[in-house]
Amino acid sequence: MADQAAAVRLEAVYKAFVPRGRSAQPLLALEDVSFDARPGEFVSLVGPSGCGKSTVLNLLAGLIQPSAGRVVHHGRPVTGINTEVGYITQDDNLLPWRSMLRNVEYGLELRRVPKAERRRRAQEFVELVGLKGFENHYPHELSGGMRKRAGIVRTLAYDSDVVLMDEPFGPLDAQTRVILQDELLKLWELKRPTVLFVTHDLVEAIALSDRIITFTCRPGRIKREYEVRLPRPRDVFHIHDVPQFRQLYDALWDDIRMEIAAT
Ligand SMILES: Nc1ncnc2c1ncn2[C@@H]1O[C@H](COP(=O)(O)OP(=O)(O)OP(=O)(O)O)[C@@H](O)[C@H]1O
Ligand SMILES: [Mg+2]
Repeated sequence: MADQAAAVRLEAVYKAFVPRGRSAQPLLALEDVSFDARPGEFVSLVGPSGCGKSTVLNLLAGLIQPSAGRVVHHGRPVTGINTEVGYITQDDNLLPWRSMLRNVEYGLELRRVPKAERRRRAQEFVELVGLKGFENHYPHELSGGMRKRAGIVRTLAYDSDVVLMDEPFGPLDAQTRVILQDELLKLWELKRPTVLFVTHDLVEAIALSDRIITFTCRPGRIKREYEVRLPRPRDVFHIHDVPQFRQLYDALWDDIRMEIAAT
């Protein structure tokens, strides 16, 4: 029985892409994928490259439509662009012609929040992640970590109850990554949006999530779900020391290793 109170839900979703060219065969990216996320839950999706993780987020954002099955947000099917969700895509998507502060304000502008109010909210978020003093810098004048921070607070300032994050810390060095994970958890605790978080980093998935869903290699199917029963608030800097960590890490790694071997 599907959970009616789910924030988002995929019901038996298939997604095939038809490549350009007359004779090209359709490519099945997702096969019979069903899962949901409860309000306020932090769910990570992990799996080999090309297994359809970004496709899942694109479906939830309404950028693409399922070939079969249903994608549901608060009980309503997603049939067009879903402006109700915040989305940090796999690319660095700050607008290069806007200053950092005006990038953070961007979502609020789309929501037609009055200027003084959106400036105040953007400034508050900028200060929360230590970007004060860089408000007037343009993206090319910021470090990679600063750009990621700006992208994250821009999406959180938008104040949606569902946030999609596609490898938001992908290209960062290990230290900056952990610092940003810690910041993200603190920001998440403020309003507790539902988060769907794609990562290749198993330690990151364990440190952040309430639940981790592993995918098979393409066509992506759900392989297993893991509840992460580590207490919160979490100390991401010492997550390895928590007793259940090792067991969960080994189980996840076994899943992924098997799938990578099958590609
Ligand atoms: N718009 C599209 N048109 C055609 N094929 C696509 C499209 N989007 C994704 N695909 C294909 O669907 C499959 C799944 O892609 P997707 O980007 O969802 O994988 P992923 O799990 O996010 O991979 P990665 O970990 O490398 O980011 C891939 O084979 C990809 O080439
Ligand atoms: Mg991807």
